[in-house]
Amino acid sequence: MQAINQVNPAKRLFLALWPDHGVRGELQHCAQKLMSKQGRAVPAGNLHITLVFLGNVDAAQQKCLVAACEQIAFEPFELQIDRAGHWPRPRVLWLAPEQWPSALLRLVEEAVERVSECGLNPDLRPYHPHITIARKLRQWSGNARIKAVHWSVDRFALVESITAQEGAQYHVLKSWPNRPMI
Ligand code: 2AM
Repeated sequence: MQAINQVNPAKRLFLALWPDHGVRGELQHCAQKLMSKQGRAVPAGNLHITLVFLGNVDAAQQKCLVAACEQIAFEPFELQIDRAGHWPRPRVLWLAPEQWPSALLRLVEEAVERVSECGLNPDLRPYHPHITIARKLRQWSGNARIKAVHWSVDRFALVESITAQEGAQYHVLKSWPNRPMI
């Protein structure tokens, strides 16, 4: 089994919107202002919005997945990250857009359809775009409205999640720019 895993390593993957340096800095600034002493802050380098969570993907599926991502067409769009909130069950504190453009939903739908062709079964729960900024936070009360962070989205990324002792580490494996839908 060990030998098979070495030859054919599965990776824990997801598709995401990955902020550039400037947006990341603004999100980090906003997250720092909201953080309480409880909970564990997500490192600034990990801040992102998941589009589609894929879970464990084997080597053959990874090849198919990269080819599928190359086919994804979407329009660029703008996000205003203007809300903060807390989900008690996963115990996460998040930032999110109050409203999001239909282009984001179309991108998610297109991505789900394409990756399904590779035998991947992404999570089909209702989509709530968000940026997790802290984990293991039991309670949070604060102002849900925040000074908006403006994010122009024109590419998406394939990201690997590696579980380390100090928490998850994310590595962007590849990213693709928007291209018009035909
Ligand atoms: P979270 O930040 O709300 O936990 C990498 O783990 C990314 O994929 C994170 O954005 C995480 O969302 C999301 N994720 C992890 N497990 C998931 C699952 N089972 N379904 C949907 N998204 C998941």
